[in-house]
Amino acid sequence: MKIFLDTANIDEIRKSLALGILDGVTTNPTLISKESHRGTFREIVMQILREVPGPVSLEVTSLKHDEMVKEAEELASLGNNVVIKLPVTMEGLKVIKTLSTKGIRTNATLVFSSNQGLLAAKAGASYVSPFVGRLDDIGEYGMRVVEDLKTIFKNYNYSTEIIVASVRHPIHVYEASLIGADIVTMPYQVLEKLLMHPKTDEGISRFLEDWKKVRL
Ligand code: G3P
Repeated sequence: MKIFLDTANIDEIRKSLALGILDGVTTNPTLISKESHRGTFREIVMQILREVPGPVSLEVTSLKHDEMVKEAEELASLGNNVVIKLPVTMEGLKVIKTLSTKGIRTNATLVFSSNQGLLAAKAGASYVSPFVGRLDDIGEYGMRVVEDLKTIFKNYNYSTEIIVASVRHPIHVYEASLIGADIVTMPYQVLEKLLMHPKTDEGISRFLEDWKKVRL
């Protein structure tokens, strides 16, 4: 399973890259706005693109086909690791098709149903991002969409990869890995929690205490 970080924070990206397990990054306008004290949109994005060797999703903010394509082309020109993130609306779907014929990789975002994911894959999306946490928030089982998309893409041999997004806690990562999702994108706080276990800390303390009794 590939691990992406869902952030625009360069310190979190650097810390995760240092662990040797980071495959890519996803951003969105909200995440970029949290870093606006660090520079312009372009400065923030260029720093991320330079440091991350894998795919980096950058979201378009226009809502009409022609403007979305123009924005996407400008973003794609910033680096060869750019993936264009766009919502699964009627216009978004058309843009996915247009960009896929131009060889620009896309990430269909704000996916809340398997039918939305199916259409995005059919239009040629490289990735689809079901938002599991936001579905859980409204009393639905978000991971069901991931399970369904896994089956649907297998049924029709789609090469579109599933990015489990809107991840809130380690159980989401655990469930996604059992389903066999291609990618999980998570906040840095969730990545940290994947390693935490009180018995590990307790075990280290005990080993260190006992080691003091050994004469060298
Ligand atoms: O990148 C989009 C997605 O992961 C957002 O998550 O927590 O705002 O629902 P959240």
